[in-house]
Amino acid sequence: MPQTASAAADDWTVPQDWAAYTSAEHALWDRLFARQSQQLVGRAVPAFLQGLDVLHLSRPGIPDFAELSEKLTALTGWSVVSVPGLVPDEVFFEHLAHRRFVAGRFIRRPDQIDYLEEPDVFHDVFGHVPLLSDPVFADYMQAYGEGGLRAVRLGAIKRLARLYWHTVEFGLIRSAEGLRIYGAGIVSSHGESLYALESPKPPRIAFDLRRVMRTRYNIDDYQPAYFVIDRFEDLLRQTLETDFAPLYRALEASPDIEPGEVISADRLIPLDRPSPGGKAP
Ligand code: PHE
Ligand code: FE
Repeated sequence: MPQTASAAADDWTVPQDWAAYTSAEHALWDRLFARQSQQLVGRAVPAFLQGLDVLHLSRPGIPDFAELSEKLTALTGWSVVSVPGLVPDEVFFEHLAHRRFVAGRFIRRPDQIDYLEEPDVFHDVFGHVPLLSDPVFADYMQAYGEGGLRAVRLGAIKRLARLYWHTVEFGLIRSAEGLRIYGAGIVSSHGESLYALESPKPPRIAFDLRRVMRTRYNIDDYQPAYFVIDRFEDLLRQTLETDFAPLYRALEASPDIEPGEVISADRLIPLDRPSPGGKAP
């Protein structure tokens, strides 16, 4: 593979080189961590908050992937490996299928504390890794990787990527206490973690596999709609028990649904908390 840098292995992983982080970089992680872990109490799904805890992610500084992986492997068999940036789809799926989560190792600049386009170590580790300690979510991510390898062969990555986007990155879940966040793109965003639960603007739509696979997404703004699952078990069971090959074929005949568009078959989930500017009942 002539295009790969000499430091990268065939699987595109590179050493995290934890010792190379500066104290300013560790301090930026701490700042992001403090702000977001506080924000997520009562907002993130309990399994996420438990994940932060059991993985000791609150310890100061950017986590050392080797140490983190040791804890995670003991819990669910997952590990965290680092890659230099975006990797080809097959490489990404191959890692997931083997319970390896690929994480960026760089951290954003201080002026990007609220927004950046490329996933950094805060998004990847704070956002994605806690839920990998949940046995059911851990199985979903592996199944997704296997499904991804299949989707590559079937030429259907676009459909499967939409499933990832609307669940793993921007999913909401209903708990007994109300609507909660589980998507990594929301939990790692200070602004969107409020917006997703409290803004009256975006519709919250009950998850439906076919519907989600038809729904396009924007990558450069808060999501104009969110999809809501009831339990990780439901998500895992539905996706495992459905053979996606006929689904991919059938969907060829269905038009795409625009981001934020509501269709008549949608079941809308009401907001269970008053919006900040909203009138008292
Ligand atoms: N059941 C899917 C298929 O037939 C695989 C899959 C499982 C995809 C879980 C995503 C999540 O391809
Ligand atoms: Fe992500």
